[in-house]
Amino acid sequence: AHVWRGVLREFADRLGVTDASTVVTLGEGGTPLIPAPSLSQRTGADVWIKFEGMNPTGSFKDRGMTVALSRAVEHGAKAVICASTGNTSASAAAYAAHAGITAAVLVPEGKIAMGKLSQAVIHGGQLIQIRGNFDDCLEIARELSERYPVHLVNSVNPDRIEGQKTAAYEIASQLGDAPDFHFIPVGNAGNYTAYSRGFIDDAQAGTTTRVPRMFGFQAEGSAPIVRGEIVKDPETIATAIRIGNPASWELALDAREKTDGYFGAISDSAILAAQKLLAGTVGVFVEPASAIGVAGLLERSAAGVVPAGSRVTVTVTGHGLKDPQWALKQEDGSEVTPTVVDASTGDVADVLGLAPVG
Ligand code: F0G
Repeated sequence: AHVWRGVLREFADRLGVTDASTVVTLGEGGTPLIPAPSLSQRTGADVWIKFEGMNPTGSFKDRGMTVALSRAVEHGAKAVICASTGNTSASAAAYAAHAGITAAVLVPEGKIAMGKLSQAVIHGGQLIQIRGNFDDCLEIARELSERYPVHLVNSVNPDRIEGQKTAAYEIASQLGDAPDFHFIPVGNAGNYTAYSRGFIDDAQAGTTTRVPRMFGFQAEGSAPIVRGEIVKDPETIATAIRIGNPASWELALDAREKTDGYFGAISDSAILAAQKLLAGTVGVFVEPASAIGVAGLLERSAAGVVPAGSRVTVTVTGHGLKDPQWALKQEDGSEVTPTVVDASTGDVADVLGLAPVG
């Protein structure tokens, strides 16, 4: 059986890796592309889910972090720094731990999910909560990396984008060609940029016959690209993409142009509905931000933009276990409380509505 060796070794030719290169890896990449018959049925398209929650720290960030940390170590860095809404900090802390160097992570106070906070802490990251939002954190991280000996590993670092392109390569190889449409969440717009470049690389190399139309989605209260202006106080329950001034804004507009793409905004309630639908009908549990591509697909399909029979891929970026609180919330805001009964087979059968056999 083939044993997956992480994206730097699996895509060594495309990422310029040689036997002499430093490789800091946790075996990231090689994530499943899962057919979604329930979504195909709803949309009339042929829908597949790229489940990036299956990466070592539970999000797509690991693809870029293996490249960023490997290059940082190669250049002798002893410390890396990032701003984060949670997933980047979890990934940076894990890869830094593996490399034996320090990771400093700046996060917006009270606005990152508990699972992600726990990850940064247990991996030994130097976690600092900033009284401000993600955009404030990124500004500080950038300034620190210019004035102090710390290496910036946010997606403004081109190594991150290079690594994240590998997900597009995998999709094309898993499907045998690129899809017609690709749906993806947008925060800083680094991943949107990375996938666009990856799909374009493949088409230029002649390994695929098309570049998918790249459809990216922001939360309604944090939709600067859709609105065409910086959002000063971004809000959404999808904390991963609570970003008002995306770092890769210009790159993403260029990518939209090149892929005949689209940016749309989705409400928090539609995000939660899509999260539930994905978990309940496909069997894939993702964090709220990660469900926005599915919500976007349903919205664009209803708008008549996705022709029947189109091949559609949707990237779901992070695992549901990172931010599980939303799964236990019902539409009216109350908590789900599982039924409690005595330790009796008959009582359980009654609750399940089962009649005895024969
Ligand atoms: N989905 C998840 C789960 C994320 O954590 C992020 C970004 C995105 C989507 C958006 O990706 O920024 O490349 O457009 N999270 C960053 C972080 C900001 O700090 O973890 P993007």
